[in-house]
Amino acid sequence: MKPLLIVANFKSNMTILEAKDWLEKFHSNLKIPENKKVILCPSFTLLANFNEFVKTNNMQIALGGQNVSRLPQGPYTGEVNGAQIKDFADYVIIGHSERRQFGEDESVVEEKIKISKDYGLIPILCVQSEDNKVPSETSIVVYEPVFAIGTGIADSPEDANNKAKSLKEKHAIEYVLYGGSVTPENVRSFTSMDNISGVLVGTDSLDVSKFIKIVENA
Ligand code: PGA
Repeated sequence: MKPLLIVANFKSNMTILEAKDWLEKFHSNLKIPENKKVILCPSFTLLANFNEFVKTNNMQIALGGQNVSRLPQGPYTGEVNGAQIKDFADYVIIGHSERRQFGEDESVVEEKIKISKDYGLIPILCVQSEDNKVPSETSIVVYEPVFAIGTGIADSPEDANNKAKSLKEKHAIEYVLYGGSVTPENVRSFTSMDNISGVLVGTDSLDVSKFIKIVENA
């Protein structure tokens, strides 16, 4: 059976010291069950620290970036490219609604999916509706209705399940996850749905004890 995917999107949060504290607590308080896969997505400035901690402690978790340049290596000030991310991580979040606010349209998202695959990264594509474009070869999609992101008002599990079902009918996707105000209390109501194979957690990933409960309860 494929594992449930539990993705932490820390967004633009955490200093190196805060990350160290989070990782130490996470590592000493949770044994990750075999049927669950945790993917931690910190800021680029923290990826090396996360990578080192995970390796040193032989932790069975994966890492991801929160964005990737649509361009290869080169003279693009401020961009972080796929090869640089691949030094530390295997996954990358693409198309998050907070990135789309900065003008990332469907064609940019498509370019990012393509280039991340060229560099050996696995894209985690966020869509805000089942009508968003899902480029072929995308295997992980997160359904994230904008009204639920960071608001404390999650979608209903039934609606999220229907959206996941329709995404799977339209595209050859292996995993559809749900994201938007996931908490320790509501996580199971989503992961118990037939078409939902995991969650993406923003706010409640920052509090390590809540995130541990999310992994346990999922
Ligand atoms: P949230 O964020 O858990 O704070 O709603 C989810 C997301 O932005 O992906």
